[in-house]
Amino acid sequence: MKGKAVLAFSGGLDTSVVVKYLQEKHNLDVVTVTVDVGQGDDQKKIAAKAKKLGVIKHYNLDARDEFVKNFIFPAIKANALYQKKYSLATALARPLIAQKVVDIAKKENAKALAHGCTGKGNDQVRFDVTMRSSSNLPIIAPIRDLNLTRDVELKFAKKHGIKIDTTAKKFSIDQNLWGRAIEGGTLEDAYKEPPDDAFIWVKTKNLPDKAQYLEVKFKEGVPVAADGKNLSPIDLIEYINKKAGSCGIGIVDHIEDRVVGIKSREVYETPAATCLIEAHSDLEKMVLTKHELKFKSVVDSEWAWLVYSGLWEDPLKSDLDMFINATQKRVSGTVKLKMFKGSLRVVGRRSDYSLYSHDLATYGSGSVFDQTLAKGFVEFWGMQSTEANKLQKRGEK
Ligand code: ARG
Repeated sequence: MKGKAVLAFSGGLDTSVVVKYLQEKHNLDVVTVTVDVGQGDDQKKIAAKAKKLGVIKHYNLDARDEFVKNFIFPAIKANALYQKKYSLATALARPLIAQKVVDIAKKENAKALAHGCTGKGNDQVRFDVTMRSSSNLPIIAPIRDLNLTRDVELKFAKKHGIKIDTTAKKFSIDQNLWGRAIEGGTLEDAYKEPPDDAFIWVKTKNLPDKAQYLEVKFKEGVPVAADGKNLSPIDLIEYINKKAGSCGIGIVDHIEDRVVGIKSREVYETPAATCLIEAHSDLEKMVLTKHELKFKSVVDSEWAWLVYSGLWEDPLKSDLDMFINATQKRVSGTVKLKMFKGSLRVVGRRSDYSLYSHDLATYGSGSVFDQTLAKGFVEFWGMQSTEANKLQKRGEK
């Protein structure tokens, strides 16, 4: 009996080539796994493709709910933005897909794991590291390990009768519920503005002339309702993607440092992520102390860095999660966002745990803040700086 390899399968050129490669060069039976994280692909078509390639079994796993609850929600709590810009859609999905592939490999008693990542990107890191943390099986990644180029792959595909959509693809896309990543093509010129047709989720023309409001209710750091309606986690993300996207919100264009050292120009459409992280971090400012906020911003950026870099399974990530979860107990309340022709602004927030006190802050009458106490406070606060400056001036003479 032949051994089995379990492959993370998207139905595209890379993973189709990998199926044939595993069958022919490794003499393995192939089991394919497609994990639905909201990429919007026709799962029936992907299953048919896998069958045509001669796989012995195909799994289609709907992991959307798990993706939102166990990956997107922790990212919201961490206000997760890699290099202050990228909300990590692809980076969050990879460990989940890798975990599912390992689960199936155990169930199928497989001999190897496989993926179709190249050696230039971040996904190979995320897949390999997550797979290795729960399995000792070898990982076969032919596109990377044989240094295959697209042309070689196309030739290989033709030779093996693999049907590939030949309509020239303008961009390389990866998408799921949390965002759409657009790379390649004309975007590789970092000075060239992305053409409007790169965008599908975010409207770029004929935007509404009237501002739209979006109200998001959070409970312990997690969004639970939008515009007064309690929605399921998946519905909530989809609702905000649609509404904010139609107001032109959520385009991100930046230069990103990949794990392997390459700087790349990345363009994203992330309407829900942009709104939810903006709203969540604003609410935190209302309920957390300034000491908590200062320290948490360091933790948040470390969290995003770990997740981007494929270290979802590192103990440090779960240590940081424990801290972050402890801070979220009071992050409940409602935030009001205003969206107008591509601009986004928080225009209101309220919470039962608010540390904002009108009576302390007001410039009007009735303030309970005793200004006379401030004089002494300021003197002590600035004492060391003042002394240091005096000393420096003396030295300059
Ligand atoms: N740069 C992002 C990341 O590493 C997105 C990559 C998306 N891939 C793509 N083929 N467009 O997470």
